[in-house]
Amino acid sequence: MSNIAFDNPFAHIPNAQTRLLGVIGHPVAHSLSPALHNPALAWLGLNMRYLAFHVYPERLPEAVRGFVAMGMRGFNATVPHKEALLPLMDWLDPLAERIGAVNTVAIDPDGLLRGYNTDAQGFTDALAETEGWRSSTEWGDRSVLVLGAGGAARGVVVGLLEAGIRTLTVANRTLARAEQLLADLAPHYPQATLRAVPQEPLPLEGVDLLVNTTLLGLAGEEMQMVEMDRLPDTALIYDIVYAPRETPLLRAAKRRGLAVQNGLGMLIHQGRRGFKIWTGEEMPVERVRARLLGLL
Ligand SMILES: NC(=O)c1ccc[n+]([C@@H]2O[C@H](COP(=O)([O-])OP(=O)(O)OC[C@H]3O[C@@H](n4cnc5c(N)ncnc54)[C@H](OP(=O)(O)O)[C@@H]3O)[C@@H](O)[C@H]2O)c1
Repeated sequence: MSNIAFDNPFAHIPNAQTRLLGVIGHPVAHSLSPALHNPALAWLGLNMRYLAFHVYPERLPEAVRGFVAMGMRGFNATVPHKEALLPLMDWLDPLAERIGAVNTVAIDPDGLLRGYNTDAQGFTDALAETEGWRSSTEWGDRSVLVLGAGGAARGVVVGLLEAGIRTLTVANRTLARAEQLLADLAPHYPQATLRAVPQEPLPLEGVDLLVNTTLLGLAGEEMQMVEMDRLPDTALIYDIVYAPRETPLLRAAKRRGLAVQNGLGMLIHQGRRGFKIWTGEEMPVERVRARLLGLL
């Protein structure tokens, strides 16, 4: 891979050696990933570009074959492709297999497709940047409540269990989905106490960390079932949504005086891990964060 010197006046113009990265989704126009990766590639002088591709679900295998044929270095996947990519991979990272979804694909020079899931560790990396959670060796005795049982919840739950959380409850509108998620994971984490519960009433007493992975709040709806007064004063409220920066859940938690965190850190760290897989380089995380904060 060739580097572009910073004093090269054409450094920002793609040329015949430029390697392509991207994100696929349906829809994909909302994705922040190009804004996350392109500046980082440029700052490191890497001759690569990252684009967004709208890929319809029924054309996914065709699109992936095309990426291989074109010699792309790799790509990210968002809804609804993460699960459908699994059978298309030649090699799967054990974490991606456990989560049942691929969000990062690396394409080897011989066309071999390697599938990873960086959402789980992206979430725990971001959690470890939060006051009171900086040392993951202290997480074992803490109690976590995850709202939602969709694709993102699977990544978050696996991340937390891998990081040593032993008391974890998943609450979901469709209880059977939460039960299935934990039934799939329980054999891998025999030391953990796992519980699936309905969305109402929530078991909020004694919760150290509440993570929202549902789509509730995206359209401005209040999350009435999270009765803030029943949470301990020390609880951290984490919403993995990053746009809007402050969801109704986070606003209500702040009013109650609780610590809050949104999904921007998770987005950055899942991207950082993909960036490392594709380029071998460390993403300049703080510069990327400052730039994204300016865009949101
Ligand atoms: N920060 C990041 O890096 C990052 C990474 C991944 C995802 N995300 C975000 O995470 C969110 C979830 O994504 P996903 O892939 O997990 O979606 P998903 O698979 O479609 O799951 C959606 C979840 O939301 C619940 N839900 C939807 N509408 C609801 C309602 N009206 N009331 C109560 N629950 C409702 C669903 O419950 P049912 O099972 O009952 O339908 C399900 O648990 C998205 O906003 C996405 O942008 C952020």
